[in-house]
Amino acid sequence: MQVQVGSTQLSNLSCDLLVVGVYGKGGRRSEAWKALNRALGGGLDSLLEVQGWTGKEGDVVTFPAPGRLRCKLVMVGSLGDRGSVGPNALRDLANAAGSRAVKSKLGRVAFFLDPALDKRGELDRPSVQALGEGLVFGSYSFDRYRSTKKKEDAASITDVYLYFEGRRDRPLLATALERGAIVGSAQNRARDLVNEPANSITPEALVAYARKLSSDLGMDFKVLDEAACKKRGMGAFLAVGQGTDMTSALAHMIWKPAGGASKRIILVGKALTYDSGGMCLKPAGGQATMKMDMGGSAAVIGAMAAVAELQLPVEVHGIFAATENMTGASAYHTGDVLTASNGKTIEVLNTDAEGRLTLADALVYACEQKPDMLVDLATLTGACMVALGPTVGGIMGTGRGVIRGLRSAGERAGESLWELPMPTEYRELLNSKIADMTNLGGRFGGAITAGIFLKEFVDEDVPWAHIDIAGPAFMDKPMGGRPYGATGYPVRALVEWISMN
Ligand code: BES
Ligand code: MN
Ligand code: ZN
Repeated sequence: MQVQVGSTQLSNLSCDLLVVGVYGKGGRRSEAWKALNRALGGGLDSLLEVQGWTGKEGDVVTFPAPGRLRCKLVMVGSLGDRGSVGPNALRDLANAAGSRAVKSKLGRVAFFLDPALDKRGELDRPSVQALGEGLVFGSYSFDRYRSTKKKEDAASITDVYLYFEGRRDRPLLATALERGAIVGSAQNRARDLVNEPANSITPEALVAYARKLSSDLGMDFKVLDEAACKKRGMGAFLAVGQGTDMTSALAHMIWKPAGGASKRIILVGKALTYDSGGMCLKPAGGQATMKMDMGGSAAVIGAMAAVAELQLPVEVHGIFAATENMTGASAYHTGDVLTASNGKTIEVLNTDAEGRLTLADALVYACEQKPDMLVDLATLTGACMVALGPTVGGIMGTGRGVIRGLRSAGERAGESLWELPMPTEYRELLNSKIADMTNLGGRFGGAITAGIFLKEFVDEDVPWAHIDIAGPAFMDKPMGGRPYGATGYPVRALVEWISMN
């Protein structure tokens, strides 16, 4: 995708899809609205009105470009009220533009933004980055499994132009746009990995993907095979993999910036390429989307890709313990007692609470790498979905600063995170009659007891946050500009947070 930033009059602009962002009451108060009306020779008002335009933030109307404009399709989007236009409104508009561009095979997309956005400080680096993110996010589709879809049909955005009337720091905005495109593609990588079914993304395939990505982007890569995991005493992780014929492995990607780094961030992702529930089998409906149970590791891989491509000056590690939860003859049983690599023992009361078992050993391994900050991401509990719904992730942990930083990064990135408490007395809910703990906290506060379980495997002096992405990783139906399927949540928030460190 070619990026160009310039200033011109709207009527001179040549492209396929012209996106005009307006704001203010009904949109009519913005310069961009007036410029478009002028370029059309008037009549914008009624053009919009017949299509149900209200002017509320997020409202989008599309119409074929009249002869006097040098484009094919015009999209007018409301950015909300003047003074409150931020990255999220611009990302949402660009998302709509991206999906329309691909659907209508419009390769050259131009954004015409209001000069006044600049005076209010709203056309700043984060906003223009958000524009790039949204455009790439919106242009995503997952149709490689449709036999009727021909390769030559695949449409993509070839050029993106950002135009305005007046002077601005063009190189800065061009860089921001490119940066947004990088983050957007990194997020789409994560979506591809999650959308791929479990017969394609096996534990081995996931590890191979990470290996290839690492070598392509100049990252170090290590893998612990089953024997190596056994040697390290990873009895919790390996037990989960007992029921499948696929081989389990722990992958470790490392980004070290050229100039050295003062901080080491470690990301750990849950990597169940399929979760049948094990012996505590899920019903068919619950299994149908469990290819997405590696969404944590997909987000980690996506974030690592962006970090390497942006050459961020922070040392970042991405770790995931990949396996499958199945019911083979050697599957682990309910009632088994497992010993994790930190020596703690776990009585298995539900084989479907497998994610925390794999994460336990991955977190112990991560702490051995001495992180300054540790974040894990997991499609961990249905309870978190019940609590927060389909677009908000749950965050909890011991690192106050990490949680605060991630939540505010999430706000800017349009990926909400809500903190759940970790009351110390809830640890009792994990008490076992025979072992150090069980893997099951009971019906109430299920997202919290899962987090408290994980805490047992994190060194006390490591600032740590756990993010439960069970809800927002995958959309069962479209909502808020997110289509059906994988979302790549929260790649944007992770990259934004890492950039701030
Ligand atoms: N992978 C699931 C959680 C999940 C459910 C993610 C729905 C996305 C959508 C996890 O392994 C699981 O099965 N959790 C159980 C835990 C319970 C047995 C304590 C759950 O949430 O029911
Ligand atoms: Mn499960
Ligand atoms: Zn699971």
